[in-house]
Amino acid sequence: MTTYDQLFENNKTWIASMKAKDADFFEKLAKDQTPEYLYIGCSDSRVPANEIMGLDPGEVFVHRNVANVVANIDLNVMSVINYAVANLHVKHIIICGHYNCGGVKAAMTPRDMGILNPWLRNIRDVYRLHQTELDSIANEGERYDRLVELNVQEQAINVIKTAVVQKSYLANKYPVVHGWVFDLKTGVLKDLNMNFTEILVDIQKIYDLTGEFS
Ligand code: CO
Repeated sequence: MTTYDQLFENNKTWIASMKAKDADFFEKLAKDQTPEYLYIGCSDSRVPANEIMGLDPGEVFVHRNVANVVANIDLNVMSVINYAVANLHVKHIIICGHYNCGGVKAAMTPRDMGILNPWLRNIRDVYRLHQTELDSIANEGERYDRLVELNVQEQAINVIKTAVVQKSYLANKYPVVHGWVFDLKTGVLKDLNMNFTEILVDIQKIYDLTGEFS
């Protein structure tokens, strides 16, 4: 266990290691950010965004919350998506869930979780959308794993439902939205290989927001 005071010692060690790799590292870092990626993942301490992708500071714009939810009326995640697409011009948006996600587990549990109820409702809604498939999985562990994957898929679709993503893709052919799951037991990042263009066309039958307001 790292003590609180140790954190500042760690910081000094980290500065030295970054400077050892590149003497001008912090001068460059202070100038601007031009990340290619927006990563939306779970707050879980075991899933550190930069580390699992091997990316340095400046290379990925990150948003994390309980169970990597992209809720339509969450001003926080919507601001992150809008800024990342319209201002940073990210080329890829990654929704990354993980197996053994406590938030997903809680959404499968018949319990009052207080203020977490409306948040976890987003995941219960994913279950309801895919109830036939999920209820057909007899093994509870496998059902839990599958809900983790389906939650990633549905949250990625929620990203595709936004006007900023649809309009940017129409104009620039980016960003492309991806769904991933991180496996804590192996460290492996699994790409769910979502077909972005196919989903976009399908989603726009109902959620097309590319027209101008008049
Ligand atoms: Co989690």
